[in-house]
Amino acid sequence: MSTDHTPPGLELRPLRIPASIDDPDAADFLEMTRIRNLVYAEVSGHDDHRMPADELLPAYQPDPSARRFSWIVVLDGEVVGRAGLDLPLEEGARSGHWLVELRRSVWGRGIGRAALALIERTARDQGRTVLSSWAEHPAADGPQLTAPTGFGAVPRDHAARFFEASGNTLEQIVRVSVLDLGGSEPHLRRLLAAAEEAAAGYRVVQWTLPTPDEFVDGYAAMKARMVTDAPSADLEYDEEVWDAARLRRFERTYLDAGRHLLVTAAQHVDSGELAAFNELVVGKDRTGITHQEDTLVVAAHRGHRLGMLVKCAGLLAWRDVAPDSPRVMTYNAEENRPMLSINEEIGFRPVSYEGAWKKVLI
Ligand SMILES: CC(C)(COP(=O)(O)OP(=O)(O)OC[C@H]1O[C@@H](n2cnc3c(N)ncnc32)[C@H](O)[C@@H]1OP(=O)(O)O)[C@@H](O)C(=O)NCCC(=O)NCCS
Repeated sequence: MSTDHTPPGLELRPLRIPASIDDPDAADFLEMTRIRNLVYAEVSGHDDHRMPADELLPAYQPDPSARRFSWIVVLDGEVVGRAGLDLPLEEGARSGHWLVELRRSVWGRGIGRAALALIERTARDQGRTVLSSWAEHPAADGPQLTAPTGFGAVPRDHAARFFEASGNTLEQIVRVSVLDLGGSEPHLRRLLAAAEEAAAGYRVVQWTLPTPDEFVDGYAAMKARMVTDAPSADLEYDEEVWDAARLRRFERTYLDAGRHLLVTAAQHVDSGELAAFNELVVGKDRTGITHQEDTLVVAAHRGHRLGMLVKCAGLLAWRDVAPDSPRVMTYNAEENRPMLSINEEIGFRPVSYEGAWKKVLI
């Protein structure tokens, strides 16, 4: 693929997706994963974003809810990065979500620019008009950029300059927080007891995948709310339709990867409705880091400490699932005060900040 700005020796090669990482054609996928993990470690200075190739692969299999374009960035025959564009396939979808991730040793040579040009061309060809992308901006001295939400700032670092120069605007700051699990139990028990008192009329229900049939519709309905109810500043997300089939496909990406997902939900006792949920996830290696993924309290059920209830009940149950997992990582919009307050009370502390960037294609 070449553009006016393509640096010599650069190839943006569509990523071959093998059926299994043991297949003979899995070499590019394995190398993509290795570079992905190295780039994250180079940017953040730790290994907590690492994923093994076999756990990443299920997320790359064909999915009727989203189309994924992926490339490896090859410079003089060596893989130095990756690029990707995800397109939700909802009716009338306008959005696309992209990434370009390069080894630090090749920054500043126009490779990011060439990769983004390809991403934008692809998005336009697919009829998309609004793109978004997320990047960690490690704390640094010097000029800072403030989000238009009024909450949070990131340094104007190399990645920020790249985003700005290529027509992206900073829309939101995402706080990455970590909770050390060691010794957390007594505090969690106290918080859970207080939440239970405020949550009279609700009970905690928990399951690992696959979701029991009785909860499929309720869980799917809450998953659909994530994209509409979580604060999204001026970013563009297409509304998602979640039916039982989509929920089962979502589950497959965890089950096929051997990743363990615990759902903790609050059920309204009188109506049987699911009112809130929280997800905790660990990889095949249960001594690794835990990720707290989606959490939501359905709007009609807010004000009963259900967020605290499902988080604490989940974390306490987690001690049986992954007793040796050292910590939990979670992501929140910096303006999402209700959710941040719960996390802070539990003991999560901020470790880094991401910028959420947007570009309207004209
Ligand atoms: C952010 C990242 C992709 C940039 O890639 P890169 O190859 O270093 O960027 P380029 O060399 O193409 O562009 C850098 C320079 O070109 C400028 N530039 C980029 N696109 C431009 C455009 N369309 N028009 C004009 N200038 C442009 C940038 O301002 C920058 O200028 P500088 O030299 O004054 O700093 C790379 O640093 C990286 O992989 N970082 C880690 C992961 C990450 O943060 N990714 C962000 C997106 S997910």
